[in-house]
Amino acid sequence: RKAVTVPYLLAMRSAGEKIAMLTCYDASFAALMDRCDVDLLLVGDSLANVVQGHGTPLPVTVADIAYHTGCVARGNQTALLVADMPFGAYATPQSAFDNAVKLMQAGAQMVKLEGGAWLVETVKFLSDRGVPVFAHLGLTPQSVHQLGGFKVQGKTAEGAERLKSDALALQAAGASLLLLEAIPATLGKEVTDMLAIPTIGIGAGPDCSGQVLVMHDMLGVYPGKKARFVRNFMDGQTSIKGAVRAYIRAVKDQSFPAPEHCY
Ligand code: KIV
Ligand code: NA
Repeated sequence: RKAVTVPYLLAMRSAGEKIAMLTCYDASFAALMDRCDVDLLLVGDSLANVVQGHGTPLPVTVADIAYHTGCVARGNQTALLVADMPFGAYATPQSAFDNAVKLMQAGAQMVKLEGGAWLVETVKFLSDRGVPVFAHLGLTPQSVHQLGGFKVQGKTAEGAERLKSDALALQAAGASLLLLEAIPATLGKEVTDMLAIPTIGIGAGPDCSGQVLVMHDMLGVYPGKKARFVRNFMDGQTSIKGAVRAYIRAVKDQSFPAPEHCY
């Protein structure tokens, strides 16, 4: 297939085709997922938990993400490759740009940043300089100590309004995609309907433009606590390729996420 691009993702959204995304941390899994036609690969700072054995993403460095981005880039051919900007890597527009350059030079085609209105200037700074930006709202794990735990966000009227105004501000600043994590499904739909850019949900309901899961969660190999939005796609499969295909199929035919995966 042809390489997945940002305009192609917009066209998928317009056509009503759901976007399937997975996290990935190495070349072998990247090659497998790419051959299954996953649309987006994310080198997430979830590598703190699933690769490094930490309890939060805070210890992950730009060098860690750049290393895994290089590994994934060498295995991938056509999926759009996104790298997470880790905690502390985007406190100012200039530091964000300098760190984004490192990740793009390692092979990333887009970077993801967690945060709302405070990031507007940074998103504009990056997108003006040729760095496609994926904004991330709702449960933003890098703020775990401010949030007081890994909790569902946007449940109050005030929280929902703030999330919606953040989403509009980030889109206006030039974000190409918006990730929504652990919010009520009704809010996931409202935000998606409100925006022109595609939304990718994880615990944000079935009405987002696409879905993402952490690879180790969807293969059932993560030993830690399992979030409500996780489904083990190895169930009923005899190979990892079968599980990845089952995940992509379930996203496309909208059988995932089911009500039991939503808030
Ligand atoms: O780090 C990560 O894997 C993520 C996804 C859960 C979206 O940010
Ligand atoms: Na992340």
